[in-house]
Amino acid sequence: MRNIDAPLTGGQGRPRTDAPVRAPVAPGRMPLVGHAPRMRRDALRFVSGLRHHGPMTKIYIGPRPVHIVNAPEVVRELLTAHARSFDKGGMFDALRIPLGDGLITAAGDRHLCHRRLMQPAFHHDRIARYARVMSERSLARSAAWEPGTTLDLVPEIHRLTLDILLRTLFADPHDPDLHTAVKGWLSVKYHSMRLALSPLHAWAERLPLVPGWRPPDPGPLRRLVAVQRRIIETYRADGRDRGDLLSMLLLTGGPQGSLTDAEVTDELITLFLAGTGTVSASLAWTLYEISRRPEVQRRLHEELDTVLAGRPPGFEDLPALVYTRQVLAETLRLHPPSWLLMRRAAQPVTLGGVRLSPGAEVFFSPYALHRDPQLYENPEHFDPGRWPPDAAAKAPRHTYLPFGAGSRLCIGEDFAWTELTLALAAFTTRRSLTPADTTPVRPLVGTVLRPDRLLLTARPRPN
Ligand code: HEM
Repeated sequence: MRNIDAPLTGGQGRPRTDAPVRAPVAPGRMPLVGHAPRMRRDALRFVSGLRHHGPMTKIYIGPRPVHIVNAPEVVRELLTAHARSFDKGGMFDALRIPLGDGLITAAGDRHLCHRRLMQPAFHHDRIARYARVMSERSLARSAAWEPGTTLDLVPEIHRLTLDILLRTLFADPHDPDLHTAVKGWLSVKYHSMRLALSPLHAWAERLPLVPGWRPPDPGPLRRLVAVQRRIIETYRADGRDRGDLLSMLLLTGGPQGSLTDAEVTDELITLFLAGTGTVSASLAWTLYEISRRPEVQRRLHEELDTVLAGRPPGFEDLPALVYTRQVLAETLRLHPPSWLLMRRAAQPVTLGGVRLSPGAEVFFSPYALHRDPQLYENPEHFDPGRWPPDAAAKAPRHTYLPFGAGSRLCIGEDFAWTELTLALAAFTTRRSLTPADTTPVRPLVGTVLRPDRLLLTARPRPN
């Protein structure tokens, strides 16, 4: 891997000077629409190609300029040294309508305060409790997959991750109103998010009669909020710790106060959003990669046989499942679900030598960084061997960012590693996986990067 502390150079290898410069505009800008058609045609290739134009490039989404950071040293400035000069940006302002103002959208002091109050719900001891649910549910779902049969794993895994999240958030996930409310909300969530995240959302609000651009029905969100409020009231009434995540959100507090019921509701909705699509995409990509690599499966099986010896996987097994974690780490490098992250300058700031005014939008892509040949040798190649146990500590910082970094690092990172490891163990211990057809699996580029489909056949393991 490259030494990222070396002096930063421009696209043509010029050393960076101290005087603020302008970022070069990426080639291919078209009148009115800017680079939007190129983004639309193949966003992953377009964003990855920007590294050839320097550590920072400017693109236009329609008339809107956006700075793209292409170098890890500038990402480091953005996420750590200058983090306080940025908030999440216009798209996150719009997301407050379908999501409320939870940790993902919160800014400034509100973010800091909520982050501190939510941290205990993600402590090691707490995750050890959630791990039981993760293992049990993954085993139950994988057991239903008969040997010799073929399944599209994309919806299957999505159901699993939602099930796990519901059961870790709420000790009693069987509340029928909760199920109906979550289902209803999920059905409008995609539409709400698509609208909120579209560069044209401001127009959509003004043109509510255009089909497909109508604001989503607010009813499902209202119903989900109402059910959650009722559950919160029950919890508050007896003050018991039920071992779930919601209990922890209600029980934590300190000198800075505690979360109100309305804030807890927003955080629960944020967790539904942040903790399902990302995990299911990662698990689906992992099964995709291993189903094409018998040698990787053989090594996985060997490790699982040695460590588990036929037992169900549990939290205490995680440290010994070294190769399993390497496989997951390599999948998260090649297929980071959060492929594009964004910020907005909240005050004048110089980033990577480029002067930004308040309101300037800045994007960076973990996907592009993870596939940069200057940072990873043979970056398109899937190689779990890149991640020996101490590799993460030695890797130059900000070259591997599946969970982001700095004050907005994913709060669910340990939760996600635990769930992914236990689910991968559950799905592979007793079977071999092979692709069921030769149709290429394509990446679907949305807020999360996921496979469009994943038809796999389960076979009994070779002896
Ligand atoms: C493989 C799974 C996951 C991936 C790849 C992932 C990725 C990320 C990334 C990249 C960020 C930072 C976004 C930014 O800097 O703009 C983030 C933030 C966040 N994630 Fe995750 N995430 C995963 C799983 C989870 C889970 C399981 C939960 C909760 C149960 C969760 C909850 C959150 C929350 C609440 C934030 C906002 C943190 C803040 O702004 O302080 N994530 N995630």
